[in-house]
Amino acid sequence: MIGSARAYSNIAFIKYWGNRDDTLRLALNGSISMNLAGLETITTVEFSSDLEQDQLSINGSDQSEGALARVSAHLDHFRRRAAIDLRASVRSTNNFPAGTGVASSASAFAALAVAADSALELHMSEKELSMYARLGSGSACRSIPAGFVEWYAGPDDASSFAESLAPPEHWNLVDLVAIVSREHKAVGSTGGHKVAPTSPLQGARVADAQRRIDWCREALLRRDFNALAEVIELDALMMHAVMMTSKPTLLYWTPATLGLIEAVRQWREKDGLPVAFTIDAGPNVHVITEASFAEEIAEGLRALPTVQEVLSGRPGGAATAIDTHLRAS
Ligand code: DP6
Repeated sequence: MIGSARAYSNIAFIKYWGNRDDTLRLALNGSISMNLAGLETITTVEFSSDLEQDQLSINGSDQSEGALARVSAHLDHFRRRAAIDLRASVRSTNNFPAGTGVASSASAFAALAVAADSALELHMSEKELSMYARLGSGSACRSIPAGFVEWYAGPDDASSFAESLAPPEHWNLVDLVAIVSREHKAVGSTGGHKVAPTSPLQGARVADAQRRIDWCREALLRRDFNALAEVIELDALMMHAVMMTSKPTLLYWTPATLGLIEAVRQWREKDGLPVAFTIDAGPNVHVITEASFAEEIAEGLRALPTVQEVLSGRPGGAATAIDTHLRAS
């Protein structure tokens, strides 16, 4: 019983930060993202009676403890659904460099869900795959459908899943990820969601989330770059305000992060370029622009002394099962 899948990472325009239920990963607010073709995970899952325990390799190196336990717990949902008790070997490769702060959990758990579904021939719907991917990593539910995606927070498990708002061809946006640090972050997203309620600003951020979601969805559907720029920057700054005022304080920015925020604002406001920033749980800056400006902006980013590397993602398709001949090694 073997299955393989490819899934893309995604960048959130409206962020997921904080859960009403950490175990089920039921987000406190809905979110909107774009899948990132070019930043992908390929995963092969093989269930076998020869295995005594689950095995996991990422980019060819065997994993134990934390990463393995998280994958095993995710596979348990599929084992329960298929009513089997077989252990599995999971091999996963990312085509983007490790430790660059590009979230690999979204593409990883989306690819794992589709590969496990395929191996066990469960034929889950896209909605179910999104719900199952969410149990592994919240943002992974948004890497299941194609293109531009909205995750409905739902009040419960069955209503918390993502759907496509528009296909990848809808808008030629590009995410230029300006890498300013490769250091491993002290507190990752899972830990961050848990402390979000300790910030006195989290209530205000969540209370205003539906307005930002509607604003962002409309800007995307109308391809209105200026409206998109305004709402994604506001949303990212609100999430970082919550992070900075949590207990313990999560301060992901470095001086290089702030320098990039200033450069992006200057390019947009003074030079009239379609460019906006968003920032996840790390110091690297995602610079969003339109494809026809991407080369010029990427050059501008590379010219900054603080930028080590620029990765690039354009709108990506859905997570899909692939031929096991192409499987991850
Ligand atoms: C800042 O989905 O990585 O990137 O559910 O614990 O795996 P877990 O968290 P994760 O959180 C993503 C946080 C974010 C914002 C976003 O992608 O919406």
